[in-house]
This record gives sequence, structure tokens and C-alpha cells, in this order.
Amino acid sequence: MSIPMVDLKGQYESLKTEIDSAILQSLAETRYILGPNVQAFDREAAEYLGARHAISCASGTDALHLGLLAAGIKPGDEIITSAFTFIATGEAIRYIGADPVFVDIQPNSLNLDPEQIRAAVTNKTRAILPVHLFGQAADMNEIKAIADELGLFIIEDCAQSFGGAYQGKTTGTIGSVGAFSFFPSKNLGCYGDGGLITTNDDDIAAQIKLLRNHGSSQQYHHDVIGYNSRLDELQAVILRIKLKHIDHYNRRRLEVAKNYNRLLAGSRFVTPEIPSDRDHIFHQYTLLCDGRDAVREHVLAREIACAVYYPIPLHQQKAFAGTTQPVLPVTEATASRCLSFPIFPEMSEDQVEAVCEAILSA
Ligand SMILES: Cc1ncc(COP(=O)(O)O)c(C=O)c1O
Repeated sequence: MSIPMVDLKGQYESLKTEIDSAILQSLAETRYILGPNVQAFDREAAEYLGARHAISCASGTDALHLGLLAAGIKPGDEIITSAFTFIATGEAIRYIGADPVFVDIQPNSLNLDPEQIRAAVTNKTRAILPVHLFGQAADMNEIKAIADELGLFIIEDCAQSFGGAYQGKTTGTIGSVGAFSFFPSKNLGCYGDGGLITTNDDDIAAQIKLLRNHGSSQQYHHDVIGYNSRLDELQAVILRIKLKHIDHYNRRRLEVAKNYNRLLAGSRFVTPEIPSDRDHIFHQYTLLCDGRDAVREHVLAREIACAVYYPIPLHQQKAFAGTTQPVLPVTEATASRCLSFPIFPEMSEDQVEAVCEAILSA
């Protein structure tokens, strides 16, 4: 049985009638830039997430960049973050000329370790940037306590956690700014690039609205040097339809993950934790194991997809040569032991069993 990492085709087929007709309608309306669907999606996303403001933009990378800018991060500022993440987390910090300060992760959650944060604070530190990796919220109480005590911003990287929550609060509404990605394979994905910034701060929201649209709130009046970073109207059409199903999608992902955990219990593979105080939405299902590369080859040979997220942590990437190279033992061990497996809302029990059979026979 051939099993992909995600089944984008299956999901499109199930929504095809609604999506096709809404796209045709939008094409006919011809309001392609910041049109009615973008405006409605921003409102609907804010309502769904419980944020005072949600402002869509062109990608998750831009969401981080604009969020950092709107929070007033300047060149030379230090931002404490995780190195066990996608490159965009660090790139966005660099776009501003600020410095990422990488600290280690927790071995169980693979998220930023609050205990490491304090030791990394200097008089240049301006923000903490936790990544809610693989759909699980970081330890936000501890992170918020440090940020509040030291007067730091929290920029949440929610690219993988749309709808995930920490003690009942959705990710992206706990810190100063939340940054989401709608890359097609994300748990809320569009059919191209897209992103969203959330905030409860009116000034930050106003700044982001300017920044995403050439620094302008009135045509041909430009208050600041901004960017062209608007969500495409057609992507907003798709996202509005998919947003109605996100609870179901996230619930199904959790069910699949629980099934995996049950079938792999007691094996040599370390299964992901499912803490009771947060809603984990399992953007990825990731195991830790010794001999990872051999397991990967074994599973791939059975036509079952699996992938390493992430083989090289950011502090070891060439792009970050020149920044301080800390030793991050948990991050480095995790990068050599992690392997992610197919997980998507449409995944059947038979498919989960087939993946587990392949894993366990490795
Ligand atoms: C943790 C993380 N941050 C940021 C991004 C950037 O999002 P995008 O690809 O939409 O620019 C991603 C997406 O892959 C991500 O996984």
C-alpha cells in the first residue's frame, strides 16, 4: 500500500464542488487584491482563533517578518528562539538585522526549554520566539512569566499549530504576536502561499496592516516603507471554505496520532507525548529512534512516505555561520534521531496499521 505524507488530492476531492464554484464566482467578481474574501477571512480567522486582530499576508515567513517589525524589533536586537525548526524562523529575525540566540529544546516536547531561556538573556534581548513545533504548544506559562518579568515581546511561530491551544488559549493569542503559515501541507493549507498574523494589540495591528500593503492605508498615501505581502484573494476563497472544517481536521489528526501511539507502545520507538493541558493538533507525527536512517530506508522501500524534520538545526546551518554557535545537546541529538510519518485527516485505520507494520519490522 503506497501512503503519502499528506493526501492533498483526497482533501480537494472532498471539497471540490464548493471550492470550484467559489473560485469561479471570485474570478467573475474581479476584486483580486484585498477583496471581499480576504476581508472576510481576516474576520473569520480572528473569530475562530479568539484574537482581537487577524491580518492575512503572503506567507508564514512574511507573517514572522512583519510581526517582528511591528513589535519594533531593530537591527542588533537579540531574539531567543529554538534551532530545531524550519529555516524561516531564523530567516525572519535576520531580515531585520536582529540576532537569533538559539537555546536548547526539551527532549519530550521538542519545544523551547524555558529553563534555558533565562541564561541566554542579555541587555540586547528584546523578544522570545517560541515555535509550537509539530502542532504542540510550547510551555507558554513559563515563557510568559519570563517575558513579563523582563519586559520582552513574545512572537509565537504558529506555522504548524493553527487551532492548537495551551490551557484553553489558542496559540497565537498568548504572546504579543502570532505568525501562521498556510503552505499547502499545513493543517490549514491553501493552494499556494499564504500567512496570517494575530495580535491583541491595536497599535501592532495597525502597523501590520500598513506593512503588508506598501505602508499605505489610503491609496497612494504611504506612511512607512512597507511590503507587498497580501494574501491572494483566491487563496482566501479556499481558506474560508477549509476553515469551516478545521476542527474536524485537527480532531482527526489527533485520533490518528493516538492510534499510532497505541500501535507503537512498548516498541523501541519514542512516541510523541500528548499532554492533557494543551490541544495538540499533530501537524507532524514524529518518532525518535536510534538508527534513524536505516528505519527511513526500510519504510521508504515499502512505498510509505517518511521524512526528517529537521536534519540540520539552524545553529549548524551555513546560513547562520557567523552567529554564535552554541552547543545544543538535545537539539543535536533530536536532529539525528527524528523521523516523521504520514498524518492527515483522511488517513484510514488500515493505512495507520500499514505504516506501523513497516516501522516495527525495521
Ligand atoms: C515552523 C515554521 N515557521 C515558519 C514557516 C514559514 O511558513 P511559509 O512556508 O508559509 O513561509 C514554516 C513553514 O514551513 C514553519 O514550519
